[in-house]
Amino acid sequence: MQSDETVLHTPVRWGVLSAANIGVKRVAPAIHASSNGRLVAVGSRNPGRARELFAFAPDVLIYEDYDSVISDPEVEALYIPLPNSLHAEWTIKALRAGKHVLCEKPLAVNAEQGLTMVQVARDTGMLLMEAFMYRFHPQTIWALEQVADGRIGTVKLIRSSFSFNVGSRPHDIRLQAALAGGSLMDVGCYPVNLCRAVYGYAPLAVGARVYTPADGEVERYASAVLDFDGGRFGLIDSSFELPTRQVAEIIGETGTITIPLPFTPGHIETMVILTLEGQTIHQRFAPVDQFRLEVEHFAASVRFGHQLYLSLEETIENLATIEAIYQSAGYPWPIE
Ligand SMILES: NC(=O)c1ccc[n+]([C@@H]2O[C@H](COP(=O)([O-])OP(=O)(O)OC[C@H]3O[C@@H](n4cnc5c(N)ncnc54)[C@H](OP(=O)(O)O)[C@@H]3O)[C@@H](O)[C@H]2O)c1
Repeated sequence: MQSDETVLHTPVRWGVLSAANIGVKRVAPAIHASSNGRLVAVGSRNPGRARELFAFAPDVLIYEDYDSVISDPEVEALYIPLPNSLHAEWTIKALRAGKHVLCEKPLAVNAEQGLTMVQVARDTGMLLMEAFMYRFHPQTIWALEQVADGRIGTVKLIRSSFSFNVGSRPHDIRLQAALAGGSLMDVGCYPVNLCRAVYGYAPLAVGARVYTPADGEVERYASAVLDFDGGRFGLIDSSFELPTRQVAEIIGETGTITIPLPFTPGHIETMVILTLEGQTIHQRFAPVDQFRLEVEHFAASVRFGHQLYLSLEETIENLATIEAIYQSAGYPWPIE
């Protein structure tokens, strides 16, 4: 038997549910490369395909279903990148089986479902975190620190967008109502998350519009004003029909912070621009793997009991904001 001291220095053993694109391309390689984690098992409905896609980790065990990963005693933590509508079911199963869970964004279809997941995490004592990887990028942390330090005065307005053209991918999970697709669920949730992170509390009211094409199952464009009270606003938009673009502008009474690539900067040097009266600072950040920072943070919390950087309270408030946006736009949600 291993001593407590040895266990503390043993990498966290991860399982992954599905051969989802984001898992295969970003998060599983980040776990594989991480300093405190090891990828041990993957479950996929198509194990042959999964074996090929996970070739970068030749020792990983491939199961032909998700339950086998959950019940594998070797697995301590699960990364869940299933379609949005399946997050709750599989997260709850995993937590009840005594596994810690890092689940993709948005954590759930709505706040009620999210609250159930949070309750199960509390009852079982397992860790649960929504995988908003951009929050671990040093540029995001730096921008939030500038706000907290009062560098731009009281923040009054946040403008943030995230869009890409989904093109003709009729089978994409993002375009399917039954899988809880939609542009706000897929990419608009980032600007919503950023607004809540900057202000530190949820909007008191929202006003919104969405566009759903006549032949579409889900909205492909969402635009909202988030009212944080006291003359403090968030203006957000997301789309599946506009070119690939993302931006965040945080405007305070005495300055502005602009993040040209706030959410998926990739492995390139990035920059945050701080504009003050008579002064512009270009703060540069070395290329970094934000997915690796995310999984290393989660694994460290599993091993050492550190508090998770992203709170479940924040997650639930953001789910409620997404719901409120849909409600304000008269968009039926969740779509039955
Ligand atoms: N953090 C980020 O940067 C980021 C980026 C993209 C997406 N995401 C999130 O990650 C999740 C997955 O997105 P993705 O684009 O990677 O998904 P994807 O490539 O379409 O993969 C989803 C996987 O779920 C499994 N699955 C189980 N039931 C399914 C069903 N009924 N229909 C389709 N797939 C089903 C399939 O895996 P098997 O066949 O192998 O079982 C499939 O490969 C979503 O929640 C999304 O919001 C996060």
